[in-house]
Amino acid sequence: MEPWLQLAGRLHPIAAHLPIGLFILLAVIELAGAFPGGPRLTAQQRSWILSLGFLGAATTASFGWLLAGSGDYDDTILERHRWLGVGFAATTAVLYFLRHRPGAYAAGLTVSVALLGFAGHAGGTLTHGESYLSLSTVAAASPAPTRVEDTRLFDDIIHPILQQRCVSCHGASKSQGDLRYDTREFLVQGGKSGLSFKPGDAHGSLLIKRAHLPLEAKQHMPPKGKPQLTEDELTLLEWWIDVGAPFDVRVSAIEVPPLILERLAARLGWVREPTPDRAVVLAAAAALEQRLGVLLRPLTQDGPWLAANARVKLTAFGDAELAALAPIAPALYWLDLGETGVTDAGLGALAAMKNLRRLQLDRTAITGTGLRALSGLSHLETLNLHGTRLTDADLSALESLPRLRSLYLWQTQVSAEAAARLGQKQTDHRRIARWRTEMAALEAKIRAETFRANLGTDTESRPPSPPAPTTARSP
Ligand code: HEC
Repeated sequence: MEPWLQLAGRLHPIAAHLPIGLFILLAVIELAGAFPGGPRLTAQQRSWILSLGFLGAATTASFGWLLAGSGDYDDTILERHRWLGVGFAATTAVLYFLRHRPGAYAAGLTVSVALLGFAGHAGGTLTHGESYLSLSTVAAASPAPTRVEDTRLFDDIIHPILQQRCVSCHGASKSQGDLRYDTREFLVQGGKSGLSFKPGDAHGSLLIKRAHLPLEAKQHMPPKGKPQLTEDELTLLEWWIDVGAPFDVRVSAIEVPPLILERLAARLGWVREPTPDRAVVLAAAAALEQRLGVLLRPLTQDGPWLAANARVKLTAFGDAELAALAPIAPALYWLDLGETGVTDAGLGALAAMKNLRRLQLDRTAITGTGLRALSGLSHLETLNLHGTRLTDADLSALESLPRLRSLYLWQTQVSAEAAARLGQKQTDHRRIARWRTEMAALEAKIRAETFRANLGTDTESRPPSPPAPTTARSP
């Protein structure tokens, strides 16, 4: 289609408002005029409004016709909207000729406004979906639960994802592949190829397989050009299927890996801790430096984040001193407690240090019991436990740290196997595998776009070699 025709088509929703406004106004004035003392239109004013209204309606209808050819709309509703709209435009022309015959004119105007209402509703349904006028969808937009225990896994997390990404084509108004995701009942009915999810087996599930197909693939879901599932949404769908695709459980009733928990929280928009105020933090830090003799340094020029070094005080810094850091607890980013006198009993103070990224506890007397105080440190990335008395069993306390990536265990009793087991749990292998696939595809694209000249000299005479295996090391 010519670009200007496409543009005209897109103007349809805007153009539609002129006849809508005019005819509603006309109907209201005529109705009010039926009462004593109501407004009276002159014949000339009426003719003008009707002519303008007809022009507007005819233009809108033709724009709409253009738009219908260009979009991916639900066929049934589109046809309904099309003919209601054309019907309305036609009645406006008829009205013009009936304007001198009051009875017929009143009846015509009633029909015309009714058609207008139905056409408008069908149009709204086309663009916003079947349930745009239902209270339940408005209510569903109200704030989601704010505590893990209250979250219903299917209703609050999984179904909204499907609603948002899939139901426009797999719902009441359109059920591509005979598949509907708008209710649980339809979900478990499956589509043309049967059930689209296999409880317990995400990767064997059609829904997931199709989402993982390359974007260009015909069967990729949602089809190219439509809003896609985000990485997090896909991860949550996979997890839901892997845990058996339950419909009636609350999140609190199942074991949720920390990585998933973090994504759930992000999805539900759970309140983040407010950022501490720099001026307040720096004032408190200066006072504490004086009192405790530790080093407290801002990490950036304008943020409130602090690096704290208590190691300089060695064992003169103990549990009481750690507790004294409370006023700056949320501002601590790095905390070095290595070689200090802190013990398990004092580590409870760490719970308030929600923003810690790096924590050093090396060569202290702490044990696995104390480590449990770290469980809420959801940003902790680096933890140094070198030279402590930790054993394999103690590592379980670290499984709840979703961001932990570097763990120092030199000179502890932790075995390599136990460390590797923790590593397995801390790593989202599925994501990494997906990224590797994406990377391989990108590398292939780069190769395809790279110019190579072969001059027959030593190094260039070999045919282009495949990319080096990732395990190869340079000598
Ligand atoms: C823009 C429309 C559109 C959207 C959005 C869409 N699909 Fe589809 N889907 C189709 C069409 C068309 C078919 C049928 C053709 C085919 O099998 O590829 C289909 C078929 C399917 C099938 C195969 C059904 C069967 O039983 O053979 C699955 C599974 C599927 N879609 C899953 C999804 C999921 C999951 C989403 C959301 C993440 C989604 N689709 C979003 C258009 C869409």
